[in-house]
Amino acid sequence: MKTAWLGTFAASALLVAGYAQADADLAKKNNCIACHQVETKVVGPALKDIAAKYADKDDAATYLAGKIKGGSSGVWGQIPMPPNVNVSDADAKALADWILTLK
Ligand code: HEC
Repeated sequence: MKTAWLGTFAASALLVAGYAQADADLAKKNNCIACHQVETKVVGPALKDIAAKYADKDDAATYLAGKIKGGSSGVWGQIPMPPNVNVSDADAKALADWILTLK
């Protein structure tokens, strides 16, 4: 019984790690990484700062998915983010959900 439980635990931990990695790959694939890193500000704000800023906002994932697709200006400073028109709605939502886990 105990071993079975441990096995399940290890499997789900792996799944969670796999999920986070998939979304990091998505950020790489969509070129977000050219301007964003998780820990530090590059051209755009650090992704963990974004997560912290919207941690208490209702509908944060929907709001950020819209920003990812449509671009953003005036929230973090002088530099705007151009619209990321090639990102699908599903990918924008997945990226927003992932960013919000990074705080
Ligand atoms: C050309 C550089 C650049 C690229 C590429 C880029 N960003 Fe940004 N991003 C920025 C800048 C600059 C800001 C700050 C804009 C502002 O102040 O409103 C920003 C802001 C954001 C925000 C916060 C918006 C808000 O309202 O607070 C999110 C979320 C975000 N980016 C996610 C992404 C994702 C996901 C991708 C990849 C699909 C991406 N960015 C690609 C430069 C970029």
